[in-house]
Amino acid sequence: MTVFPTQAPLHVAIIMDGNGRWATSRGLPRLVGHKNGVDRVREIVRAAPGLGIGALTLYAFSSENWNRPKTEVMGLMGLLKTFLEKEMDDLHANQVRISVIGEIKKLPTEVAEVLRRSINTTRDNTGLKLNLALSYGSRDEIVRAARDIARECCEKKLSPEKINRDVLAAHLYTRELSDPDLLIRTGGEQRLSNFLLWQLSYTELYFVPIYWPEFKAKELKKAVADFNRRQRRFGRTGEQIKGGRS
Ligand code: FPP
Repeated sequence: MTVFPTQAPLHVAIIMDGNGRWATSRGLPRLVGHKNGVDRVREIVRAAPGLGIGALTLYAFSSENWNRPKTEVMGLMGLLKTFLEKEMDDLHANQVRISVIGEIKKLPTEVAEVLRRSINTTRDNTGLKLNLALSYGSRDEIVRAARDIARECCEKKLSPEKINRDVLAAHLYTRELSDPDLLIRTGGEQRLSNFLLWQLSYTELYFVPIYWPEFKAKELKKAVADFNRRQRRFGRTGEQIKGGRS
């Protein structure tokens, strides 16, 4: 039986950190850590709907990750491509809808191609929204939105007085998603690393010391249970929230 928490986080974002350290601490090449990380991606994607999660945004490759050694970058790209090729049928059968945030055109052609195919094939699915952050950087995303808004103003399609939070949010990659309710970061570090800076304004943060290759479904369940114990006040008082006053 699936037991939904009383207040399931509808959108969960994850910084999947610690693959490299997991591997190095075992005397293994870093790429083995990433391979084991892919196994956790598969497991977490399968477990999420059962916990009432409707959208999952995974930080799979940041705009800064391009600065890693070429072999690691190419290894990660290969793992991503293989994951999509191997899992596509299964994801589609389970109604998963794939989307991407980030600079998809910076990715190797064959990876961008598989991604476009996956997005297209799953576009009408109504289950879990699996949003992959690839070549993603939050500051660049905000700059890009500002540039697009400025262009619309210059072209007289928008007047500066009309620019508000909704307008800005509508120019971000995440325009079709609600803001994350819960952010999980594995690997022990407690920082945001240029991830969803605008969207995380009121998100509950959950940091765990374990490395991503160790983050199994039961760990996701624990994170959801922890979220469920929190009171989200959005600037109001605890009494207002309890009393249900708006
Ligand atoms: C951070 O660990 C992890 C990454 C930069 C890549 C995450 C990628 C995957 C889990 C696999 C591919 C993803 C999908 C969606 C199939 P790190 O290398 O920075 O670890 P470290 O801090 O221990 O060095």
